[in-house]
Amino acid sequence: MRLDTMLKLGVNIDHVATLREARYRGRNVGEPDPVAAALICEAAGAHGITAHLREDRRHIQDRDVWSLREKIRTRLNLEMANSPEILAIALKLKPDIVCLVPERRQEVTTEGGLDVAGNTVALTETRKRLSDAGIEVSLFIAPDAAQVEASAKVGAQFIELHTGAFAEHFDQERDRIRELDRLVAAANQAHGLGLKVNAGHGLNYRNLPTLHRVPHLVELNIGHSIISRAITTGLATAVKEMLAAMEGYR
Ligand code: PXP
Repeated sequence: MRLDTMLKLGVNIDHVATLREARYRGRNVGEPDPVAAALICEAAGAHGITAHLREDRRHIQDRDVWSLREKIRTRLNLEMANSPEILAIALKLKPDIVCLVPERRQEVTTEGGLDVAGNTVALTETRKRLSDAGIEVSLFIAPDAAQVEASAKVGAQFIELHTGAFAEHFDQERDRIRELDRLVAAANQAHGLGLKVNAGHGLNYRNLPTLHRVPHLVELNIGHSIISRAITTGLATAVKEMLAAMEGYR
């Protein structure tokens, strides 16, 4: 399969930092090191690394994102809230792509994605500042027609479809089919509007084969299931097994 049409894997390494902070919060030291983990993921075939620099710095710290920027050789996807403080960091850091995500309750739609339709002015302003700095922009949204349409209006290059509801309802057939249909419809709509489509949240080794039915996917951002499996199999094996589960997507 040609590399540019292959479904890509971005590994979210936040959970590695969560484990470190559980023991070393407030100190500039400690294990496990999310940057070392990122390098193992890259060596195992991951196409990118995702890290969320939260306003409350609950897991990833500023030093982590600077070290990632310096050391990783694939793409750095910085997840962040649309906040002035984090935006200023992003503009200096220059990740390859920023994914804007909700952090506070009032920014969250009922399905848990960013309320792009209700915040088009502010999001367009941020999108322009990131575009001017040469950084691509993705918006993390629920598979909802109004949010997809608003994302195109904002001028983002990518959306990331929130797969949380699909993952949550995976074991209830009727709900699973409904959530899958919503993802398929949103992906088709986004593609038609010229948006590139990523997906993430709650994806795991079990629900991934079903996700293959969603068209136009460019990249999946996966964290929890890979880091969890790594505890028993090791990180390189966990990444390789996820890539194998993604194989055959067209
Ligand atoms: N994509 C986005 C935008 C996220 O916020 C997260 C969770 O931090 C993920 C993907 C990864 O989700 P998970 O850890 O459930 O794989």
